[in-house]
Amino acid sequence: MQSRPKITVVGAGNVGASVAQYTVEKELGDVVLVDVIEGMPQGKSLDLAQTGPIHGYDSQLTGSNTYDATAGSDIVIITAGLARKPGMTRDDLLFKNAEIVGAVVDQVASRSPQAILILVTNPLDAMVQLAWKKSGFPHQRVIGMAGVLDSARFRTFIARELDVSVENVSAFVLGGHGDSMVPLPRYSTVAGIPITDLLSPDRIEGLVTRTANGGAEIVNLLKSGSAYYAPAASVVEMVEAILKDKKKILPCAAYLDGQYGVRGLYVGVPVKLGRRGVEQIVEITLTSDEQAAFDKSVAAVRELVDKLKL
Ligand SMILES: NC(=O)c1ccc[n+]([C@@H]2O[C@H](COP(=O)([O-])OP(=O)(O)OC[C@H]3O[C@@H](n4cnc5c(N)ncnc54)[C@H](O)[C@@H]3O)[C@@H](O)[C@H]2O)c1
Repeated sequence: MQSRPKITVVGAGNVGASVAQYTVEKELGDVVLVDVIEGMPQGKSLDLAQTGPIHGYDSQLTGSNTYDATAGSDIVIITAGLARKPGMTRDDLLFKNAEIVGAVVDQVASRSPQAILILVTNPLDAMVQLAWKKSGFPHQRVIGMAGVLDSARFRTFIARELDVSVENVSAFVLGGHGDSMVPLPRYSTVAGIPITDLLSPDRIEGLVTRTANGGAEIVNLLKSGSAYYAPAASVVEMVEAILKDKKKILPCAAYLDGQYGVRGLYVGVPVKLGRRGVEQIVEITLTSDEQAAFDKSVAAVRELVDKLKL
């Protein structure tokens, strides 16, 4: 009999394997890793299971190339797809990854009809919209990971700039995951003090630009593949908020039904995450400049969604 939550991770590559690792290290549940590469999810699962005695976790790990082992999952995380290569935009990935994500959703949704889906595959916002459509799940149970990562990047740069603990820094980001994302400095704080009181507009602009290009900076350094430690940690923060019903407010790609002036589209906004998934969209009033930047980001997301005819 299974009493621990069941968490499926589809795509056992860099992000997926790290998600599995952090999930069992926190003992959030048992993990099923699925990938198309034969033997790979099985091998990584066994390796991670053998880390249990050393790190002190009892979570079960299973690897598979098929989906039967995923049945009855509480959460399904989808990282399957291609990662960006240098010079490749997230948009280049659109059609290839849509095909992969669509097929994965078909497999998982029928076997885990009560699951919460967390999408990671890029281009993120369009993939979440696709997964929501394909699964037929209520939109509260289909969520995209991007904002937690983008705000972690912004927090890192702010902490370094001011030489303070990352734990003192909160950051606020809105919009789609991509170059048009919208960090909000006046809601980004150090020990409660807005960074607009601590840094010059020029310095803030520098940090904002670096955050918006945060993914590309790492792609260019790695030469092959893209970031995965912080992306995986971001997913696991969402998993923990859901499974522990923390009602934690985190920036996620969520379905907007009129909020922020947007209807029928997944975009990054602050949401309350709990056992039912997205339990509330947190709305704030934007200045006209912020609203204009948000609208531009929304337009970029809508363009991709339109290309997929969703
Ligand atoms: N949302 C974000 O903030 C964010 C952050 C980092 C990465 N990503 C995206 O996550 C995805 C994965 O990144 P990665 O670094 O782990 O890439 P990766 O190449 O290391 O892993 C992807 C894995 O997916 C597998 N796969 C491909 N097709 C599959 C299918 N049909 N079924 C099951 N598995 C399949 C591949 O075999 C591979 O192991 C990419 O699209 C990347 O752009 C998003």
